Amino acid sequence: MLTIRSLLALGLLCTVEAFPGPQLNPRARNRASSGGGRQKQQTAFQQAQQIPQGVSTATDGSTILDMTAQVNGLPLRFKISGPADQFTADSGVDGATQQAGAQGALGLNVLLHGDGGQSFFDFPNQAVQQNLAGVAVLAPDPNLFWGGGAGLQRTDGVAHAQAVNDLVQTVLPQVMAFNASNVFFTGVSGGSLMLSGFFIPAHMTNFQGTGVLLNCGALAPQVDFVDAAAVMASTKIHFQSTQQELADLQQSIPESVAAFEQTAADAGLNANQIGALQTVDNSPNGGHCEFDEKDFVSGVQLMADSFSAIMQGGNGQVNGVNVLNPVVGNENLKFSGATR
Ligand SMILES: *[C@@H]1O[C@H](CO)[C@@H](O)[C@H](O)[C@H]1NC(C)=O
Repeated sequence: MLTIRSLLALGLLCTVEAFPGPQLNPRARNRASSGGGRQKQQTAFQQAQQIPQGVSTATDGSTILDMTAQVNGLPLRFKISGPADQFTADSGVDGATQQAGAQGALGLNVLLHGDGGQSFFDFPNQAVQQNLAGVAVLAPDPNLFWGGGAGLQRTDGVAHAQAVNDLVQTVLPQVMAFNASNVFFTGVSGGSLMLSGFFIPAHMTNFQGTGVLLNCGALAPQVDFVDAAAVMASTKIHFQSTQQELADLQQSIPESVAAFEQTAADAGLNANQIGALQTVDNSPNGGHCEFDEKDFVSGVQLMADSFSAIMQGGNGQVNGVNVLNPVVGNENLKFSGATR
C-alpha cells in the first residue's frame, strides 16, 4: 500500500484539474484508447489510475488531497477537500496542523459518483459548504460502477458499502480532523443505488442524525436493515429525479421511496414525521441527472450547490422550485418520458 508520505515522496504533487478526466462512458473510452497504442484495452479503473493523485486547490481555495487507501483489500481512491489546517500532519499537506484521529469542527459530505466516475473527477462538492467538507470516493470496480454488477443488479454492493463505511471511520480520520457525528452522503445515479440498496440499511446506524441525498437513482434496501427504527427516526433522505429519467430507474426510485417510507412507518413514525425526514421531487424537465434541465455535469453541480438548502434545514429551493415534497402521498412519481 502506498502511504500518504510515499505518495508525496514519489512527487505526485500536481493540479488534478490540469489533466483531462475520463469520459462518462467507459466503453467509449476503451474504444478510443485501443486505436493507436500498443497497450491492451484498459478498464475504466486502470485508465483512472493514470490520472495523477496528490494535492491541488479547490474552487473555494480549500486544499484537495487525492490519494488511495487499501480498505478490506479494495483499493479506494478518494479526494478530500478542506482548509489546509484541518489536515493531519501525517497527510503531508502544507499547513496541516492536526493530530491523526482528532475531532474537528467540520462535518463531511461524502459523494459516490455514477457509473463511469464522472462526478469523482468533477468533485462537485469540493467547496466547504454549511460546515461540511467534501469527499468523493472512486468505485473499486473495473467499470467504475458503485456496487459492481450492472443496471439494477449491484452484485458487490455489500462489500462496497462496507468499504465506504470503513474508509470514513478508519482512514479519513488519519487524513483530516472532522466531526464524526456530522457525516452526510450524496449519491449520483449508480452511487445512489449503492447508498439506498446497501449502505443506508447496513451502515447508516453509524451516522445517525445526518442525511443522504439520492440523485437520479435509488433501490429499495437489498440487505437487512440494522437499527432500522433509530436510523429512520434520525436520517433525512431526499430522492431527486427528473421528468425523463432512465426507464429502469422510473421503476426502482418509486419502489425505493415506498420501501423507506414503510420502514419508517414500521418504526412508529407518523405521516408528518416521515414527510419531514423523507422528501422526493422529479419536477425538472430534463433527462437522467439533468436537474438544471440542461446537462448531466451542470445538473449534478446544481444539486451539490443546493445541498444545504435540501439536506440541512434550508428552504428546499433548487432553481426556484421547492423540492421538499413529503414522500407520503407522493410515492407514485409521474414521468413524462424516458432518456433512452
Ligand atoms: C458535531 O456535530 C454534531 C451534530 O451536528 C453537533 O451536535 C456537535 O456540536 C458537533 N461538534 C463539534 C465539535 O462541532
